[in-house]
Order: sequence, then C-alpha cells, then structure tokens
Amino acid sequence: MVGAASITSVFLLILLAAGPNSLPAFVSAADECQEPPQPAVVEGLSWSFYKQSCPKLEHIIRRHLKKVFEQDITLAATLLRIHFHDCFVQGCDGSLLLDGTASDPSEKEAAPNLSLRAEAFTVIDELSALVQDECGQVVSCADIAALAARDSVHLSGGPNYGVPLGRRDGTSFATQATTLANLPSPFSNATTILSEFAAKGLDDTDTVALSGGHTIGRSHCAAFVPRLYPTQDPTLNPAFADELKITCPDTNSTNITVLDLRTPNKFDKKYFVDLENHEGLFTSDQDLYSNERTKEIVEAFSVDQDLFFEKFSVAMIKLGQIQVLTGTEGEIRTNCSAKNSDSFPGLQYGAEDGTYDGRDEL
Ligand code: HEM
Ligand SMILES: *[C@@H]1O[C@H](CO)[C@@H](O)[C@H](O)[C@H]1NC(C)=O
Ligand SMILES: *[C@@H]1O[C@H](CO)[C@@H](O)[C@H](O)[C@H]1NC(C)=O
Ligand SMILES: *[C@@H]1O[C@H](CO)[C@@H](O)[C@H](O)[C@H]1NC(C)=O
Ligand SMILES: *[C@@H]1O[C@H](CO)[C@@H](O)[C@H](O)[C@H]1NC(C)=O
Ligand SMILES: *[C@@H]1O[C@H](CO)[C@@H](O)[C@H](O)[C@H]1NC(C)=O
Repeated sequence: MVGAASITSVFLLILLAAGPNSLPAFVSAADECQEPPQPAVVEGLSWSFYKQSCPKLEHIIRRHLKKVFEQDITLAATLLRIHFHDCFVQGCDGSLLLDGTASDPSEKEAAPNLSLRAEAFTVIDELSALVQDECGQVVSCADIAALAARDSVHLSGGPNYGVPLGRRDGTSFATQATTLANLPSPFSNATTILSEFAAKGLDDTDTVALSGGHTIGRSHCAAFVPRLYPTQDPTLNPAFADELKITCPDTNSTNITVLDLRTPNKFDKKYFVDLENHEGLFTSDQDLYSNERTKEIVEAFSVDQDLFFEKFSVAMIKLGQIQVLTGTEGEIRTNCSAKNSDSFPGLQYGAEDGTYDGRDEL
C-alpha cells in the first residue's frame, strides 16, 4: 500500500515537473479542465430537432436495441459500421439503406462484399416502424442510423455522446463503384488512410479515434490474409500470426475472426493496446502505430480511455454530419429500404413553403 501511494506520488511529481509541454498537442483541451469542445453543428441540424415532433425517439431506439443486443451483441458492431459507410459514401443520407434493382444495383448490393449483415438492416427497418407507430412519418432513416450507431457504441460500453438530428433521406444511391471508391481499404497504410479521412474533413486525431471503432466487431480472413501469405508481415506479432493462420489456413478461407482479440464485444481502449502489441488485424490498423504522425495518439488512447471516448465522441459527431441533407432536401422515407413513391408527393414535408423545422405534427 505504501508502495502504491509513493509510486502515485512519483508519477504526479513527474507529471508536474514535466509540465504541459510534454503532452501531445491534441490533449491540451482536456488538460485545461474545461468542457470538451463540441464540434460545430451544421446548418439545418440541431440537438433537439424532434423535441416536439417525436419526444420519445431516443428512448424507443435505445429500448429496442437493448432487446436486440440481449439476443445478439455482435449486431452492435454492424450497426456502427453501417453509419460509417453511409456517411463516407455521398454523405449521411441513409442511401446505404436503399435496396437497388437487378439492373441498378445499390450501395447495399455492394454490401455483401463489404460484409454488412442483412440482420442489421432488418433492425433499422424495425426501429423505423416503431418510431413511425409513435410519431408518424417525421424521423429520417439517416437519423435512425446515426442514433443506432451511437446506442451500439454506448450499449457495448462506450460513450453516450449527443447526436445532432434533422438529417433528411437521400432519394438516390451511389453506384457500387462509387461505394467501393469512397471506402478505405484495410490494405492501406496510415498515410493513405489519413489523407482519405482528411478529404472528409476528419483530422489525424479523429482518424485514430474512429479507427478505435474496431474495438468491437468481426472481419473475414480476406481483409488480412495478405499479411500472412505468401510472406508474413514483419509488423505482425508472430504468436498472433500463428493464431490467425489457424483461423485462416489459406488465402481462400471464408472464416471470420474478431477485430479486438482482448475484448471483442466491449467498446473500450483495448484496440489501442492491441496495436502496441502488434496485434492489430488490418494493415490500416497496425500502421497507425508505425506512423510517426499517429503513434503518439495511439499511445495516449491506450492509457487513457476517457481521452479516447472524448475524442471518439467528437469524431463521431463530425462523421455524422458529412454532406447531410437538411431542410427541404431529400425526403423522410416511409420504408428505409426504398425511396418514397413519386405518387405520394404529399409526404415531402415542407416542400411547399420551405419552413419545416421538425416540429410538424402528423
Ligand atoms: C480506417 C479505415 C477503415 C478501414 C480500412 C476499415 C475496414 C474494415 C474491414 C475490412 C472490416 C471487416 C469487414 C468484414 O470482413 O466483415 C471492418 C469492420 C468493421 N469496421 Fe471498419 N474500417 C475502417 C474504419 C472504420 C470506422 C471509422 C468505423 C466506425 C467508427 C469502423 C467500424 C467497423 C466495425 C464496427 C466493424 C465490424 C463490423 C461487424 O462486425 O459486422 N471501421 N472495417
Ligand atoms: C462482389 O463479389 C463477387 C464475388 O466475389 C464479385 O463477382 C463481384 O464483382 C463483387 N462486386 C463488387 C462490386 O466488387
Ligand atoms: C503508403 O501507400 C501509398 C500507396 O500505396 C504509397 O504510395 C506510399 O509510399 C506509402 N507510404 C508509406 C509511408 O509507406
Ligand atoms: C476455417 O476454415 C477451414 C476451412 O477453410 C476449417 O477447416 C477450419 O476449421 C476453420 N477454422 C476456424 C477456426 O473456424
Ligand atoms: C483455394 O481453393 C481452391 C479450391 O477451392 C484450392 O484448389 C486452392 O488450392 C486454394 N488456394 C490456396 C492458396 O490454398
Ligand atoms: C420496403 O422496401 C423494400 C424494397 O423495395 C421491400 O422489399 C419491402 O417489402 C418494403 N417493406 C415494407 C414493409 O413495405
């Protein structure tokens, strides 16, 4: 006990002696003991958008997801990933949720290749139906996806950040080619990932924090077998590589493994501990610890879960506002899998006078 106390004091002394200059620049806000800065809310979104029109919205979503996750917690990861993909491909407009047709395949049809499980899309449809029962057709599918991602994080042990609301649903989806072109590759190095995220308005800290989304969920062998065969990636921990080779015996294997070997279903800082142990699954993960631009951010998160949660929350709020449709743009979909029929233009709220502020009652 005495030992523990004196070790703590020595630590404090070192911290005090070192002064704020020894901390990475990006932690300075937390260092000043102020409220963490919230990212700006874009024009047209607000923290209280459905306060009048659907006051129970967040309660309905959380209650249903609690039930869903009691049956299958692995769906939380898929729901988080759906929101990320929606936002990276033509903005957070729910277009990823649309079904395509045989002749006109959608973003979602690219999904089987991207391994987004159909059950997760079913959960979004269920949420939309529950919300419509309570409030009518006022909440967009894009907002439901954003809230489902937040609750997936929180119900897995992560932060309970606020979600600006008021997104409208897109009426067209990106092609499969656009979809794949906009999504980062697990084979990319950190430099490439950082510039792809920068193109979406996300800085280095945002990128490392968001990569921490890989603290939950699963991957197919295809996303990392080039690190095993024919030549083993030297940045891969050899014992970890041996385990991966059992799961993925050859380059064709369709097996699945967890992204965070320590706590695969818990949203925590262990992903960053994995990286420090050279147990990151993808090149895009592990290279964050090799790259000098991001290494110290990984190190800061691996020892300070509150810092990770704070930066992850900020980054998710930014991610969730990429190229959103607001006001009278787009529509509020009845069915998250299909755009509204052209024969029901009456469902385009606010199209007439442009004053729709989210407070209409059906
Ligand atoms: C940094 C660039 C990123 C790359 C290259 C990447 C790539 C991937 C890949 C290849 C998978 C496995 C898919 C499969 O084989 O089933 C995956 C899964 C996942 N990704 Fe990412 N991702 C990135 C960023 C993100 C971000 C920003 C988030 C969310 C904040 C995220 C959340 C997830 C989750 C939760 C899973 C597990 C999905 C499940 O279990 O169904 N990823 N990612
Ligand atoms: C999806 O995977 C299938 C089979 O592996 C392949 O034929 C198809 O071209 C892929 N689609 C895209 C968009 O990559
Ligand atoms: C990262 O990947 C890009 C594209 O493959 C390559 O041009 C670049 O040299 C790589 N950077 C580093 C630091 O390895
Ligand atoms: C992986 O797939 C192979 C068949 O390709 C199977 O024999 C093996 O048992 C699987 N391993 C795991 C850990 O699922
Ligand atoms: C991939 O699978 C095919 C048969 O499904 C097999 O003939 C081939 O050897 C496998 N490739 C590797 C690299 O193991
Ligand atoms: C929603 O749209 C999809 C795609 O058009 C369709 O398959 C599904 O049956 C629709 N669901 C409902 C409840 O109408």
